[in-house]
Amino acid sequence: MEIAAPQHRPLTVRKAPMFELLKPMPADPLLQIITAHRADPREDKIDLGVGVYRDEAGHTPVMRAVKAAEKILVGEQPSKGYLGIVGDPIFTDLLRPIIFGAERGDAELIPAVQTPGGGGALRLGAELIATARPSAKLWLGTPSWPNHRPIFEAVGVEVREYAFADLHKQELLFDPMMDALSEASAGDVVLLHGCCHNPTGLDLDHAQWEAVADLCARNGLVPFVDLAYQGLGENLEADAAGFRTIFDKVPELLLAYSCDKNFGLYRERTGALYVKAPNNELARNVASNLAVHARVSWSMPPDHGAAVVRKILEDADLTSDWRAELSDMAQRIHAVRSAIASAAEPLAPIARQHGLFSNLAVSTAQVDALRKEYGIYIAPSGRMNVMGLRIEDAPRLADALTSVGVIPKQ
Ligand SMILES: Cc1ncc(COP(=O)(O)O)c(C=O)c1O
Repeated sequence: MEIAAPQHRPLTVRKAPMFELLKPMPADPLLQIITAHRADPREDKIDLGVGVYRDEAGHTPVMRAVKAAEKILVGEQPSKGYLGIVGDPIFTDLLRPIIFGAERGDAELIPAVQTPGGGGALRLGAELIATARPSAKLWLGTPSWPNHRPIFEAVGVEVREYAFADLHKQELLFDPMMDALSEASAGDVVLLHGCCHNPTGLDLDHAQWEAVADLCARNGLVPFVDLAYQGLGENLEADAAGFRTIFDKVPELLLAYSCDKNFGLYRERTGALYVKAPNNELARNVASNLAVHARVSWSMPPDHGAAVVRKILEDADLTSDWRAELSDMAQRIHAVRSAIASAAEPLAPIARQHGLFSNLAVSTAQVDALRKEYGIYIAPSGRMNVMGLRIEDAPRLADALTSVGVIPKQ
């Protein structure tokens, strides 16, 4: 008997139904700088485009206390079991006195979630805002960290921008900022950089924090403070002072915290979101909403960075070594800033700014000329990471900025 061969009907495959709908996205301008810098054979090239701290030798070091804590962890960590949705509460609790000071930071009123970096904390906070008050607008001073706007837009929060800085004068536009914020409605959110403003290095002074805090309190605005560089400006206490001023005056507030810079943990994605609620019942409500948002975003946070921070903060010797090294880093930032400021009079404001970044007023042609003619790489926006500079190169930077016309001739 003959067995009929199986019938192979040709399969008709539908035309690609999905990805051809995608529009190409522009490449990150910073990645382009990194690539161009790598390909540049000049030995004296200067990379001011990077986003991380660098030491005198141009390295981004693993901090001593971090190395020591990692060694201990490798030896004694009993399990790699999941952490749980909110992460390790001991990690977020150990950070409380550093962030809030000894007298604040009540865990009942301020629920916390460990997040993948400060970026994760911002996203989680944005999700909470979009759920709690979908009509809330986010008020954002510009320029700001380029990720701020898209993070809030990604969850459907409307962003209102106002001018925060005059880059030509290297000054805060404080009165216009207050005018803009006085247009905000009750329940709107005000994003504030806790310290070391990225990209301008321009921080509010004490009186300005007080004024913003009063405005938020009076008009029912909810501050969302992004504290990504605590300890890299003046010191841990001073860098949290503005945040604490505003914390004390308003009933509701969000804080996105990063340990990626002040513990040098960048790739370990270590951060937390703290949310101040007006009473315990609302705090529990906030906590349960945060848990749901975290669950559907990353489910549970990565552990390693937070475990390292916990190890350090549980050990007095490691804590004091971490504080000492962080303070050395802040001093080095000041030293580089002073060197730039002394190299040319128009650069003097740079010494009064804080953190890794300053933002010069530049044209695309000037950025290109700096790169092509002088091997100096800065972001197309004019943001420069001052830590990409060796102190002895400050006069070279000033000369190049003068010759391409970014700063006037003396
Ligand atoms: C102002 C600001 N906020 C948040 C972040 C995000 O920090 P992380 O790397 O911890 O996600 C950064 C990182 O560059 C930043 O500059």
